[in-house]
Amino acid sequence: MSTAFDAGNGKITVPDILGRKTSTPSSPNQSSDRGGSDRRKIVCLTAYDYPTARLLDEAGVDVVLVGDSVGMVVLGYENTLPLTVEEMLHHTRAVRRGVRRALLVADMPYGSFHGDKDEAVRNAVRFVKEAGAEAVKVEGGERRMELIAQMVEAEIPVMGHIGLTPQSLHAFGGFRVQGKTLEAAQQLLRDARAVEAAGAFSIVLESIPRELAARITSELRIPTIGIGAGPECDGQILVLHDMIGLSLGHTPKFARRYANVGEAISHAVAAYAEDVREGRFPADEESYHLSSEVRERLLAIRRS
Ligand code: KIV
Repeated sequence: MSTAFDAGNGKITVPDILGRKTSTPSSPNQSSDRGGSDRRKIVCLTAYDYPTARLLDEAGVDVVLVGDSVGMVVLGYENTLPLTVEEMLHHTRAVRRGVRRALLVADMPYGSFHGDKDEAVRNAVRFVKEAGAEAVKVEGGERRMELIAQMVEAEIPVMGHIGLTPQSLHAFGGFRVQGKTLEAAQQLLRDARAVEAAGAFSIVLESIPRELAARITSELRIPTIGIGAGPECDGQILVLHDMIGLSLGHTPKFARRYANVGEAISHAVAAYAEDVREGRFPADEESYHLSSEVRERLLAIRRS
């Protein structure tokens, strides 16, 4: 397993992502004081397998996240909760083989960090050691402070994730926009500050009002990565299958569709099926041939 890690060859690192903060609380609209002059928005997408990981990386995506959304969009689970560490490791290894330049982040699945903290750190270590992840993502705000700090202490960069955290599905009572009341907005501000204070290098803001995401973005020193959180965030992420039209379930309104790969697959499969049934596939040029000598000698052999 190669992580192609060689600073200076264009590889995106955790410090690079920190340097991409578009503004700092003390100097809005100024370059970050971390020496980074690259203030372009951070482009993030999910990937779950080798070919899509390679395509994303070659297209110049900055952060590839092996999201636990894999459970829903690839494995067909109803939500992300049943996904196991072993399943996530399997997909992270496949993505690792396709990513050379982007920062590779692996999602910690539900149950892998909710009990004993030492076990949670051991699980996070597995993503780095066994699957080549360069960082892990952990859902939750204030209540994850200690855990995030422990992971950072173990040299594991952590991406936080607050707002509509899908692993809190039952606690939220469904997939709903978060932070709409004053109290909820204030709690999310506290969550964001806690994640930053614990040492996370970036934070995903999912399905929260644009104004709240803008406020969090302007307060934090670490970059915010929005998904359904408006354009003021320092970066954006989407679930790949949503943006290429390959998700079979409901897609949220923020998931702009850039291609209809699902329709392309359906058309291709229907055309193939018709060609097979009508005897049009395979054609002669899609077949292998014997040399004329072998053909003649074969014909001369009688059936026994
Ligand atoms: O699992 C996932 O894909 C995610 C992103 C949507 C942030 O958590």
